[in-house]
Amino acid sequence: MFDKKKIMSLAAAVLFLPALNGCLIEVEYDNMATHDPVESQTDSSYERDEHSHARPNQVRSRHIHLDWNIDFESSILSGTATHTLVRQPNFPQAPLIVDVKALKIHGVRGGAGTVDQDLIWQIEKGDDVLGDALRIELAPGIDTVEISYQTTGAGSGLQWLNKEQTSSKKAPFLFSQSQAIHARTWIPCQDSPGIRLTYSARVRCRPDLDVVMSAERQEAKDGVFRFQMRHPIPSYLIALAAGELEFRSMGPRTGVWAEPAVVEAAAWEFADTEQMIDVIEGLYGPYRWGRYDILVLPPSFPFGGMENPLLTFATPTVLAKDRSLTSLIAHELAHSWSGNLVTNATWRDFWLNEGFTVYVEQRVVEELYGKERADMEIMLAMDDLDEEMAGMAPEDQILHVDLKGRDPDEGFTGVPYDKGAAFLRLIENTMGRKNIDLFVRHWFDSHAFQSRTTADFRSALETALSDVENSIDLESWIEGPGLPSDAPRPKSEAFSRIDTSVAAWWAGEMKLDAMPTESWTTQEWLHFLGRQKEAVSKASMIALDEAFHLTAKQNSEIACAWLLLATEANYTPAWPRLREFLTSQGRRKFLKPLYSEMNKDVSLRAMAKEIYKTARPLYHAISTATIDEILGR
Ligand code: BES
Ligand code: ZN
Repeated sequence: MFDKKKIMSLAAAVLFLPALNGCLIEVEYDNMATHDPVESQTDSSYERDEHSHARPNQVRSRHIHLDWNIDFESSILSGTATHTLVRQPNFPQAPLIVDVKALKIHGVRGGAGTVDQDLIWQIEKGDDVLGDALRIELAPGIDTVEISYQTTGAGSGLQWLNKEQTSSKKAPFLFSQSQAIHARTWIPCQDSPGIRLTYSARVRCRPDLDVVMSAERQEAKDGVFRFQMRHPIPSYLIALAAGELEFRSMGPRTGVWAEPAVVEAAAWEFADTEQMIDVIEGLYGPYRWGRYDILVLPPSFPFGGMENPLLTFATPTVLAKDRSLTSLIAHELAHSWSGNLVTNATWRDFWLNEGFTVYVEQRVVEELYGKERADMEIMLAMDDLDEEMAGMAPEDQILHVDLKGRDPDEGFTGVPYDKGAAFLRLIENTMGRKNIDLFVRHWFDSHAFQSRTTADFRSALETALSDVENSIDLESWIEGPGLPSDAPRPKSEAFSRIDTSVAAWWAGEMKLDAMPTESWTTQEWLHFLGRQKEAVSKASMIALDEAFHLTAKQNSEIACAWLLLATEANYTPAWPRLREFLTSQGRRKFLKPLYSEMNKDVSLRAMAKEIYKTARPLYHAISTATIDEILGR
């Protein structure tokens, strides 16, 4: 009999040999970014993005130059966005259409390589989710369009913090968050992940502050900053921050920016970053962006992290003082391959960004911290996914989810992340680690600096799998709801030991203080607390707190899990800590479950509303949108 595995690996090796050779010849990756992104997308099934008004097949922006003034007095960003266009000859009359939302447009000029004429433009009304279309008429030959504009207070893409909202309380702070479709609230652009462009910027700001962007910083002098992004990226990766910032180097390619009070702690926490790059390079080829720095934001940052190229934005809530939450950095760094190098073409394909990235993140954790730790993190994620999916509509449980007519931010659930990663782990188990590594590397190499759809991935996968009897039901994994029964679920001995102890405690056969908690990692605590959901009561909360002082724990993930139990059990001694937690950070992942749980109970609802009243001005628009909906504002 033939050994199917062997045939498979042989087939894959032949199939991917070109990719392997490419790596041996040591290609100068950095200088390879000048090809035309849409031209090279002819092998993609990308047609249109329902979350953008742009018509890139007619007129497309390939470079944007941003000339801005940051005014902290008025909380307004103003200036010009100058687009360099590619016009398709078949559409000589086609206008340039860019997405705009909550922007004030002052005027549009253009020309052939210049901006010497006023152009005719108009705003075409869109809806509350997409915003409007700015339509600019283009006479023949016009390939440069300069839009003068300013932001308004209504935009969700920028958060302006006053100095009291920062940790040093000395200077105001500004940061952007563009994914998924918030870029259009601070930059008039073709705001679709299927459209890629290079960018440059000249930014003026108060001279006592620092300005950083998701690009190489070329100049920083007397309040004038210049930046350049040489690789074509989607608009959602354009990012800006300004404030009192300090920089600490961590390694030859890595460093951290943060407010002075935080920078030392951040550099310590993220010390493994350089090694993480080495691990991913070993698996999937060179890091093609040059430097990798991390910006630690003030606590209102609504996400854990955001993979802005060259400069990951991160929440200060990962600074656990024991490096136990740094898989978040592995995740954002992994996006330098999955997401930033090869990008989801539309927000329906978001799982391509996040599922791949969680998979790579888990591989990094395994390599650096061991399989036991990686398996624990996978199990925690799978438990969360099971719980979340149980409360989700079937159509939202689909990897290739239909988001038409909806805000793409609604696609931000555990499904693209953890169901996506489970799918890749299943593929790994089916074709073997060596083959999936070659396959994924080839996927990144062959589509570098391009955007791809789920259909593109599926056909690449089908090619790779075709030589063996394909046991994976691709259709139900990609297009179906729920989690297929072949989803791989690792086991963890450490978690099993905790399960045994918990069962013994519940049976009255073991005292809490006999549990070996001294040696527990953050992941073990999280599993332990997860198990408490099954039998939470006021009495158990009192016992747990007395034994382990959980209300006083500062680790943000542990705090969130504990406070969630406290709200379920109406454990009032935790209220001061709950209030402190909700008013000291604005990460949506922590706010959402806590406010939701409080909202279920009449008396707690009043407390939730009262805390929210104080906390809301500190939160980012992305978080308040979610919490407003929960509390019915
Ligand atoms: N790119 C995402 C954040 C994002 C996704 C922002 C969609 C807006 C819309 C980022 O890489 C991410 O996934 N962050 C996670 C942390 C990660 C460790 C799972 C987060 O912020 O929770
Ligand atoms: Zn991510």
